[in-house]
Formats: sequence, structure tokens, C-alpha cells
Amino acid sequence: MKPTADPARTFWPALFASEREDWATPPALVAQLARAFGFEAFELDPCATAASAKAPRFFTLEDDGLGQAWAPARVFLNPPYGRVIGSWTAKAKLEGARGALVVALIHARTDTGWWHRDVEGHATLIRFLRRRVRFIGPNGGAQPAPFPSVVVAWGPAHRTPDLAGSWIRGEAAGGQE
Ligand SMILES: C[S@@+](CC[C@H](N)C(=O)[O-])C[C@H]1O[C@@H](n2cnc3c(N)ncnc32)[C@H](O)[C@@H]1O
Repeated sequence: MKPTADPARTFWPALFASEREDWATPPALVAQLARAFGFEAFELDPCATAASAKAPRFFTLEDDGLGQAWAPARVFLNPPYGRVIGSWTAKAKLEGARGALVVALIHARTDTGWWHRDVEGHATLIRFLRRRVRFIGPNGGAQPAPFPSVVVAWGPAHRTPDLAGSWIRGEAAGGQE
């Protein structure tokens, strides 16, 4: 396989092909995040399939969640992690300004343009997760991510969650300590 500048991409190409494949968030982690923000469940998942949606309202590729209005819902966002991720963080920042609470689970790529344009100095909350999230692949199997994850929120949160150390545990957790 041809090496790339990013060793994680070389050795874990499947996880980075998430624009095409549906690497889903463990439902237990999403439920834990909702509780951490002080409510029972999210209202909208703007990028999902019917099988992977984490909220009763959701948009699929056919709907194009980037072209839809999200505010004023409580939104859970696990976007495609390819080059398009910056379009999703820009949209999340915009919808946060319009009154949505957007809670995103994204990879902690703090050296990127989108991080500094949309997250650093713009998000209402940033919590780095301990351990690795075990995302659920298209065949139903779970694999620890080859990257660290961070929870980023934009928009009005009624409750500020505690530190994130305890957010991933049990079946939602995996990978290295
Ligand atoms: C990383 S998966 C997350 C799935 C689910 N939301 C979850 O958290 O388990 C990203 C999803 O975004 C979908 N997607 C990609 N582009 C989209 C778009 N423009 N509008 C809506 N969904 C899109 C993909 O089909 C995929 O299902």
C-alpha cells in the first residue's frame, strides 16, 4: 500500500473512508452525552442512515444535511471524517449561532484549519475523551478508532458537562489506556 503523510490513514484506511462507509457511534456513548448535557435524548442527527441515526429526526446523504436548517434542535453530530469535515464544523458553528445546541464527536485534529476556524475560540465547550471510541462498522463489528476523539459543542447549553474522563466506559470504550 502506498504510504501517505498520515500513518493512521495508511494503516486504518477503512475508518478514514467514512465518507463512503457508515462508521456509527456507539448508542451508549450518545445517551451518555445527552445526559451529560442535561437531557434525555438528542432531537436531530444531520448525517446518518436510517440504521445509524442517533435521533428521531435525521438527514441522510440524499437529504444532504449540510443544506438543511438544524436550529433550534439539540443536535448530535458525528460527521464524515474525510476532507469534508470542515464543511460540517462550519455548519455546526453557524447553526449554533442560530440557536441549535450542536454536540459533535470528532477526531481531535487540533492542527487543522477547520479546528482553528470553527472550534478553537468558537465552540462553547471542548472536552477531550480519554481512551478511544469503538465505532461500529458497516458489518456491525466495533473497532477502536485509530485517533483520539473530542466532544465539541456549539450553541446554548443549559448545563455544562463535567470533565469527560468518565464518558467512555463499558461497551463504548476500547483501545489503549
Ligand atoms: C460517521 S457516520 C455517522 C452516522 C451516525 N450519525 C452515527 O453517529 O452513528 C456519517 C454519516 O454521514 C452520512 N453523510 C455523509 N454526507 C452526508 C450529507 N451530506 N448529508 C447527510 N448525511 C451524510 C453518511 O452516509 C454516514 O452515514
